[in-house]
Amino acid sequence: MSTLILAALLTLVPGALARTMTVYNHCPFTMWPAMFTGTGTRPSYSTGWEAPPYTSVTFSVPDNWQAGRIWGRRDCNFSTNPGPNSCLDGGCNGGLECDPSTGTGVPPATLAEFSLNQSGGLDYYDVSLVDGYNLPMSITNNVGCPVANCPVDLGLNCPAPLKGPFDSTGFPVGCKSACEANLDGNPSNSPNCCTGEYDTPQTCPSSGVAYYSYFKSNCPNAYCYAFDDSTALFTCPASKNAVYTVTFCP
Ligand SMILES: *[C@@H]1O[C@H](CO)[C@@H](O)[C@H](O)[C@H]1NC(C)=O
Ligand SMILES: *[C@@H]1O[C@H](CO)[C@@H](O)[C@H](O)[C@H]1NC(C)=O
Repeated sequence: MSTLILAALLTLVPGALARTMTVYNHCPFTMWPAMFTGTGTRPSYSTGWEAPPYTSVTFSVPDNWQAGRIWGRRDCNFSTNPGPNSCLDGGCNGGLECDPSTGTGVPPATLAEFSLNQSGGLDYYDVSLVDGYNLPMSITNNVGCPVANCPVDLGLNCPAPLKGPFDSTGFPVGCKSACEANLDGNPSNSPNCCTGEYDTPQTCPSSGVAYYSYFKSNCPNAYCYAFDDSTALFTCPASKNAVYTVTFCP
């Protein structure tokens, strides 16, 4: 067997045990992508990195990656205060690299969420605005499965009680969820957060979530509140071995 063929085989074998993920920053400004794993095996790739405009990275994730999320952090400077407040939004414990156990993003943050090869042999994925919005995002794939996205800027027209944070020029780099904005003042028993007596799909309809329609009408293919499974949780057969691309500012 030639060395070349052997090398090709050796790269194919791990390919069968892992999936390929690409994160593309199509925004005309630098972003700091971040990644967090909720359960199970973590990808070996970094949990946070700098992404100049129009650049992408490609890496492997476990073929059963569970409760994985990828998001973008805006306007970061890690030099003086490495931690959740190093960025205007999306920052995490840890600084540039998010802490693997506690490094979830500070809302508001648009999230790309994945659980691969779960029940029914399906990949589940969505673009979530449950923790609010901080940039347009899409999840596309190479096997013809549905596109999850929120392709529009929800900051500019964001309802006043949810608008922000703002950058140094006064531009809104986020739009908070009604839950995060604590509009009803009772986060532990809230129809906006689907908590307490509102903690089931039956007792927490989307119609009870303030400003749900602002997010949903602009981004019908995004997951806009805690129980939005029926409208924006997408699936793809794991057997198709999809390569997913998460694009910021698609
Ligand atoms: C980051 O913050 C430090 C300390 O405030 C400052 O000196 C530096 O210029 C900042 N860097 C950028 C790129 O803004
Ligand atoms: C999905 O998981 C099942 C059970 O662990 C496994 O047998 C199968 O090979 C996996 N499929 C893919 C495409 O990863």
